[in-house]
Amino acid sequence: MPVTVHINPERRIGVRSEMLYGHFIEHFHRQIYDGIFQPGHPLSDEDGFRTDILEAMRRIRVPILRWPGGCFVSAYHWKDAVGPQRNPMFDKAWRVEDPNSFGTDEYVALCRKIGCEPYICTNAGTGSAEEMSDWVEYCNLENEGKYAKWRIANGHKEPHAVHYWSIGNENYGFWEIGAKSAEEWGRLVLESAKMISHVDPTAELSAAALSDPAWNMNLLMHCGKHLDWISIHEYWDMMPEKNEPSSYEKCMAFTDRIDHSVHEVRGMLAALKLDGKIKIAFDEWNLRSWHHPNVHTIRQGVGKESYVTPRDKNDINSTYTMADAVFTACFLNAMNRNCDIVGMANFAPILNTRGCIYSHDKGIVLRSTYHVFDLFVNHMGDTVVDLWQTEKRTMDVPHKQGHIVTVDTLDLLATTFSDRPGMAVSAVNKDPDAAHAIRIPLAAPANVTVLTLNGDSKDAYNDVDHDGVTVKETKLGLCEGELVISLEPHSVNVIEIR
Ligand code: AHR
Repeated sequence: MPVTVHINPERRIGVRSEMLYGHFIEHFHRQIYDGIFQPGHPLSDEDGFRTDILEAMRRIRVPILRWPGGCFVSAYHWKDAVGPQRNPMFDKAWRVEDPNSFGTDEYVALCRKIGCEPYICTNAGTGSAEEMSDWVEYCNLENEGKYAKWRIANGHKEPHAVHYWSIGNENYGFWEIGAKSAEEWGRLVLESAKMISHVDPTAELSAAALSDPAWNMNLLMHCGKHLDWISIHEYWDMMPEKNEPSSYEKCMAFTDRIDHSVHEVRGMLAALKLDGKIKIAFDEWNLRSWHHPNVHTIRQGVGKESYVTPRDKNDINSTYTMADAVFTACFLNAMNRNCDIVGMANFAPILNTRGCIYSHDKGIVLRSTYHVFDLFVNHMGDTVVDLWQTEKRTMDVPHKQGHIVTVDTLDLLATTFSDRPGMAVSAVNKDPDAAHAIRIPLAAPANVTVLTLNGDSKDAYNDVDHDGVTVKETKLGLCEGELVISLEPHSVNVIEIR
């Protein structure tokens, strides 16, 4: 029996920012070096960027790219990586040498080639309010002062016009270099925000936060009036120390209350009457945490085989299955539903590690999550409208911690387009085994196309010589009265109703 799905296109939930489909790239493993930035590689352009990777990033219309970290940034000094003389530095976060050949100017050039907004995360670990505001001078002042003049001398006459800035990364965490107490954090963010605003009052400022009331309330009470965004991060399948990816069923358990952090932060913003002023930047998220044993802890590994070599396990493409695609679609549905307060979300990261694009010496692999972004960016609408189901199908799945979780089997989102007629519905079937049919009453005859992302099993994946996950297009033609569509097990679907 199909589940009846009612859609009211007249009842608008909100217009989502395209920045919900943002991304993040960090100086970690093969994201920058041996990743997007490979000067002299046969597939690289005159500026050293891999053209195959750039093309893939353009296809999912990356709207904003957060850089350079992440933990990396908390001991990073941007002045070491601009100008003709680049001295290698020891990256104290990830304990490798960084050649500093990729710095601010290369990053801004990358963003221009992709066609995305730059979003710079500053060093609030070992850095200072002055170092942050000097960085804004370098990027955004016309020619006043030594930093703008330095940028000009480095060959960039026009300002870089970096509009989005984050003060700090996860400075609340014991693992972060230069971690701060809530009180210290409030003070540093306040002084940093003041200095940045004195340089560029049009810059939009975010600060690292988490959905912990004590930390957030202190931050917001100290400097809510200086902030435009509050930054939160979340990874669900945690494996920094042991690379043991959860099964499909356990990943479905993580979809339970997938937007709990958003609701918690929304409540704090509302309590302080800041919910009309400050938006949430969910600027690091991914089903899978990154694998980097013996560094993100107090105990540091000795010998590169204990803390560097294991990072290659992030590159195992068979890890990224339909579980990752289904989870990612559920997360993006949830962010669309909360688009009144979530203005940005950044998949962490875009390239290699746990990213949606994997690169190797001869080319790239588009992992299952890449195709979810392709479907949402290129086929879903910008206006979220009301949708309700006449019944909720549920399924019980095992949680990684050993208990059983009951989750909705279907995850549905309806959208319209502000620039053209029609609707697009994202329809996710989480069931690992069974198809589920939905029935959508049609107010008027419409041409319908169904795009289905799936593989031949819940564990299907893409790899260098293996296309296990694809998007299938089914044209249903002109439909009248109602639509009945069977959603395949473990599938992500976009139903275009025009
Ligand atoms: O695992 C990668 C790290 O996750 C990022 O560098 C940091 O921001 C988060 O803790």
